Amino acid sequence: MILVVDFGGQYNHLIARRVRDLNVYCEVVPYNKAIDTIKEKRDEIGGIIFTGGPNSVYEENSPQIDKEIFEFGIPILGLCYGMQLMAHTLGGKVVAAPKEREFGKTEIVTKNSKIFDELDENQKVWMSHVDRVEKLPAGFEIVANSKNCPIAAMENLDKNLYALQFHPEVNHTENGNKMLANFVLNICGEEPSWTMENYAKVAIRQIKEKVGDGKVLLALSGGVDSSVTAALISKAVGENLTCIFVDHGLMRKNEGDEVEEAFKDSGMKFIRVDAEKRFLDRLAGVTDPETKRKTIGEEFIRVFEEEGKKIKSVDYLAQGTIYPDVIESGLGDSAVIKSHHNVGGLPDFVDFKDIIEPLRMLFKDEVRDLGRELGLADYLVDRQPFPGPGLAIRVMGEITKEKLDILRDADKIFREELEKSEIAREVNQYFAVLTNNRTVGVMGDFRTYDYTLALRAVSTTDFMTADFSRIPWDILDKVSNRIVNEVDHINRIVYDITSKPPATIEWE
Ligand code: XMP
Repeated sequence: MILVVDFGGQYNHLIARRVRDLNVYCEVVPYNKAIDTIKEKRDEIGGIIFTGGPNSVYEENSPQIDKEIFEFGIPILGLCYGMQLMAHTLGGKVVAAPKEREFGKTEIVTKNSKIFDELDENQKVWMSHVDRVEKLPAGFEIVANSKNCPIAAMENLDKNLYALQFHPEVNHTENGNKMLANFVLNICGEEPSWTMENYAKVAIRQIKEKVGDGKVLLALSGGVDSSVTAALISKAVGENLTCIFVDHGLMRKNEGDEVEEAFKDSGMKFIRVDAEKRFLDRLAGVTDPETKRKTIGEEFIRVFEEEGKKIKSVDYLAQGTIYPDVIESGLGDSAVIKSHHNVGGLPDFVDFKDIIEPLRMLFKDEVRDLGRELGLADYLVDRQPFPGPGLAIRVMGEITKEKLDILRDADKIFREELEKSEIAREVNQYFAVLTNNRTVGVMGDFRTYDYTLALRAVSTTDFMTADFSRIPWDILDKVSNRIVNEVDHINRIVYDITSKPPATIEWE
């Protein structure tokens, strides 16, 4: 595997993604745990990548690394801060060069180097730095320069050390993937054998070994992560897995039935709890968005608890935690418990030995690939994110069954029409929102006073920022016509044209 040593840069997850895209396994560790990890996993590590970071290496308290890391004989690639740190640690000099700083696309001229193997001499790359290496450490030579950066890349072939001042992991570096492939596959000699087919085989075997005849319990929400977790574990332990699907009545049209359909014959024990009435009773009169979320979270855990207690013995609790959750919460310092309905903490009603998190090392798109590998239907695997509180935060104000049904019907039409079109591929999340606003309309010869429905569609890569989608007018026109004709109590439709920020994706 490749070990990515994290110095706090903004593109760090991306580096790990790119390495995995080469079908090579890779893990991210914080810089202060790097040496211990290398000692522990020395035989598995074929190469190391130092990430970028926001600090300056010559500042006090900036992240440093012990020289020892260069003594293991493992090839190392330093990127941006990682390059400066390599230079600084090995006796070179790093300086601030505010006048010559570079941000954005830059052209570099390269020399013959294994990193630039099979690439043209001139390369377009993405730079983002103020500091730069001024003097090479002993044994290094310059292998690229740009107008403002005389040492844009350096290497020490004897020691197998390489460094780039720019970011090969971002798309703006046109041949960045090839440079990373040159390092990972050619220099480190990694085999491209990390595939979801292999992963599934190994994970199923490991779960079998760990669980034996034990019983596993999983809260299945029907989202991608919990669905893939369920499919994987059920392949390993069959009916020793029990999935509890709490149907809170806040799902989209037919969604509860689809989840049941997908899992009921899968060999595991599948329990669907119809809890619609309980949830609606608890939500009656609640209008504040945060109170809605909290109420739903609490009720969810209560239902899960009641059902869990009916199962006599539980040895393992399974969770659909994925790698971004792990990285975001401090790289495995503490166990990360992801609860699909925003419930903090673990249920303590069952005595279990351990938690199983078989997706803990996977990125989202790997989870989707794994789901396909396990034979899950596309509509489950390609699912958009759906918030734990469900439609409760897409019906503004008080929630009633009537309002939920109106929204479900309208939302279905919007999704149906969008899915017929090419634009659906560029849109990452789309849904309808039932506002709490009523306006005057006219239908036939009658005055109406009915709800305004909002349509929301965004494109985004990380859901932290998002752009509203430019859906063609004729699609919006068709959607609008169908909804007012087919769904009662909606007489006005608006399209949300705000991005995030300043708006959020959901309305509550
Ligand atoms: P916002 O509305 O914060 O949403 O821009 C960002 C992404 O997160 C999803 N989302 C939630 N997911 N529980 C969840 O599990 C929630 O309470 C929740 N609120 C928002 C949202 O659908 C979007 O994909």
